[in-house]
Amino acid sequence: MTVATVATRYETIKVKPVTPLIGAEIEGIDLTRPLEPQQVAEVRQALLDHLVIFFRDQPLTLEQHKRFGRYFGELHVHPNTRGPEGHPEILPIHADHNTVRIAGDRWHSDVSCDPEPPLGSILHLQVLPEHGGDTLFSNTYAAYEALSPGLQTYLQGLTATHDGEQVYRSRNRGKGIDDRDRVYPKSSHPIVRTHPESGRKGLFVNSNFTTHVDNVSREESAAILGFLYQHLAKPDFQVRFRWRPDSIAFWDNRSAQHLAVWDYFPNVRSGYRVTVKGDKPF
Ligand code: SIN
Repeated sequence: MTVATVATRYETIKVKPVTPLIGAEIEGIDLTRPLEPQQVAEVRQALLDHLVIFFRDQPLTLEQHKRFGRYFGELHVHPNTRGPEGHPEILPIHADHNTVRIAGDRWHSDVSCDPEPPLGSILHLQVLPEHGGDTLFSNTYAAYEALSPGLQTYLQGLTATHDGEQVYRSRNRGKGIDDRDRVYPKSSHPIVRTHPESGRKGLFVNSNFTTHVDNVSREESAAILGFLYQHLAKPDFQVRFRWRPDSIAFWDNRSAQHLAVWDYFPNVRSGYRVTVKGDKPF
């Protein structure tokens, strides 16, 4: 396991790791202002090194949020949830006393049912409960590297199906939204994914979107996925982020999974996510 954290690699930002395996707080940057190319390059490097990076005290407008996202690629439009008027690329994240089910309360990589799932997601929360509402992130490289060589080899030959249908249709039902005219993405991806920038391998199945391992019996699929979900959820691979108003978490969906903890009902937790388009997993 390599953890590339050399403070001197960064000249324009301060990068403070939260755990040895995943997560770093970034200081010395104001995301409400346009960034210089070197700042963008260093933020990108910090994301590659730490898989999820956290910023504090960044009161972004929706336009500033989108501008920050566009430094890393084109913005993704969510296949189910609509953005606020005039901002289709913004995904509202909101829970309050009327909420019956929150988004992201199972381990997942965002929209992994897309043929080209998002590279990364940038969540800005503005309203937080006094206690709770944390987000957990898990390092999928570390989870893969902790498997025995025999299991790694077996998994490398397999793909799994990721389906938006089961996730979005049931969420809409809970909200009373009629989505009969919608068709949700469904894709088959390698179980062991190679990160296109770092070249490292990680596990790419999650309990939210993955329905089955392709071309094996139902029993074998259930046993493999059950084991991998349990393995990916080990605290050894995790960081837990405690939000404050105007915090931002920027995570790499190609090397990390996350889960939002809903322990604050009936209180409000609210903000917006910008998601950056990704490429076809290999
Ligand atoms: C998400 O999955 O994007 C939501 C994460 C969160 O609310 O913490």
